[in-house]
Amino acid sequence: MNLHLNNYASMAASWKTGETPSMWQRVTAIAVTGTLIVLNDMQNTEAFLAFSRSTCRTLLPFGRGFIDGTGYQHVINSITDPNMPRMFQMGANGGTEACFDPSMVIFQSSGTPEHSQSRRLWDDAVMSSMHLGDLPDLGNTSARGWMRRMRDRVGWKLPTEDEVGALIVPLLLERIWGKKPTAKEAETVAGYLSVGKVCIFGGMADSIPFLPSMIAAVRTAHVDFARDSPTADKLVKLLEEPGFAAVQKLYQSRGRPIRDVAVQGLADATMFAGVLGTTDMTFKCVKYTWQDPKHLRLFREKPTEYIWELMRVQAAVQGVSSVSTKARDDHMAGEEVHFPAGTPVAYSVSIANRDPIMFSKPSDMDFQRPWSEMGEMLSWNGRLKDVIARNYTGAPRFCPGHDLSVKLAAHVCAHLTRNL
Ligand code: HEM
Repeated sequence: MNLHLNNYASMAASWKTGETPSMWQRVTAIAVTGTLIVLNDMQNTEAFLAFSRSTCRTLLPFGRGFIDGTGYQHVINSITDPNMPRMFQMGANGGTEACFDPSMVIFQSSGTPEHSQSRRLWDDAVMSSMHLGDLPDLGNTSARGWMRRMRDRVGWKLPTEDEVGALIVPLLLERIWGKKPTAKEAETVAGYLSVGKVCIFGGMADSIPFLPSMIAAVRTAHVDFARDSPTADKLVKLLEEPGFAAVQKLYQSRGRPIRDVAVQGLADATMFAGVLGTTDMTFKCVKYTWQDPKHLRLFREKPTEYIWELMRVQAAVQGVSSVSTKARDDHMAGEEVHFPAGTPVAYSVSIANRDPIMFSKPSDMDFQRPWSEMGEMLSWNGRLKDVIARNYTGAPRFCPGHDLSVKLAAHVCAHLTRNL
C-alpha cells in the first residue's frame, strides 16, 4: 500500500504545478489498482473501496481530478441534479475519439437540449420498448473452442466473462438494432470486452500501443452491421422532426453523414454502457450462484430481486463522471493542491450504495431487503424506483438500459446455471 500512497503523493506534487501525471505514474497506478482488484478476489467494489480508503477518498486514478462524493446524500444530490455538467472526458483522463464520438449522450450536460433531445430520440427509436417480449431459448448453447476444452480438462467449469459476453452480445445487438447479427458480426462486437474496457479511463486508451486501432476496428464493424438496420432508419427519420433540431445540429457538426454519426453514438453506448455493464452483471450472477447453492436458490426464486441486490453490493458501473464548476483547494497526500474550475470529478454510486444511513447491514447481500431500501439504491444512475418508473424528473439521466439489462442477465444466468 505504501507504493500506492507514494505514487499518489508524487502525483499530488506534480498536480501542484498543474501537470498531468507522467506515464510512469500512470503505469504504477494501473499496476497498483490491478493488484487491489486481484487481492480483493476480483470484486471491483472492494478494490474501489480499498483504493478510496488508501487515497483518503479524494484522488482519481490515472489523471488529474478528484472523487467529489461517496456519501449517499452527496451522490444522490449530484446525480439527480437537473443541470449536472458534463464534458468530453472519462474518469480524469479527458475524452478520446478512439473510444467515443464527442456528440454521444453521456458527454452532454443534463438540462441542455442536446441531452434531453438525445434521450428522447433514443427512447422513441428503441429504448422505451427494447425490453418487451420474450428472449429466445438458448437451448444447449455452450462455449466451444480450445480454451474451453483446456479449462474443462483441468476442471475449471465456471464460465468465463468472455463466454458470458458471447451469449449477451447477440441478444443485445438484436434488441438495440432490430436486426439479428451473424455469428461473425456478434463475435467481432464481443471483442469490445477485450479491447474496450480501457475506455472507462478515457484518454488512457491513446497511450497504449496498438489499442486505439483495435478499438476502432470493433467500432467500425459495429457501425457497418447497424447502418442499414430498422433502428438506424428510425433514428434518421426522427432526426428530421423539429423536436430534435439541437441533436441534428450536433450530429451535422461532426462532418460525417448524419446516419453514421447517429449509428456511431448508439453503437458506442451499446458497447460501453450495454456490453460491458450487462456482461459484468451477468458474470457476477453466474459466479455467485455457481459458488453458493443458497445464492442459486434465491436467484431461481426471484431473479430480478436477486440481481438488484447483487448490483447494490457489487455494482457493474462504479460511478459517474462530471466536472467541477468551482475551483477547489485540497490537502492531498501531504501536499496542498489547487484544482481550477473545470477539473474532472467523479461520484461513487457503489460506495453510496453501502452507506449505513440508507441501508441496514449495507455490505451484506440481503435478498429479502425491503423495497423501502432497495428502491433507493443507485446502481442504474438514479434511485431504483425512479429508474424503473423512467422518471426523468427524479433521475434526469437514469440508465435507459435497466429493464433490458436485468432481463438479459436473468436469462443468460439461468441458462448457464441450468445444470447445477
Ligand atoms: C442493455 C444494457 C444497457 C444499455 C443499453 C445502457 C445504456 C445507457 C446509456 C445510454 C446511458 C447514458 C445515460 C445518459 O447519460 O443520459 C447509461 C448510463 C448509465 N448506465 Fe446503463 N446501459 C445498460 C446497462 C447498464 C448496466 C447493467 C448498469 C449497471 C448495473 C448500468 C448503469 C449505468 C450507469 C451508472 C449510468 C450512468 C453513467 C454516467 O452517467 O456516466 N447500465 N446507460
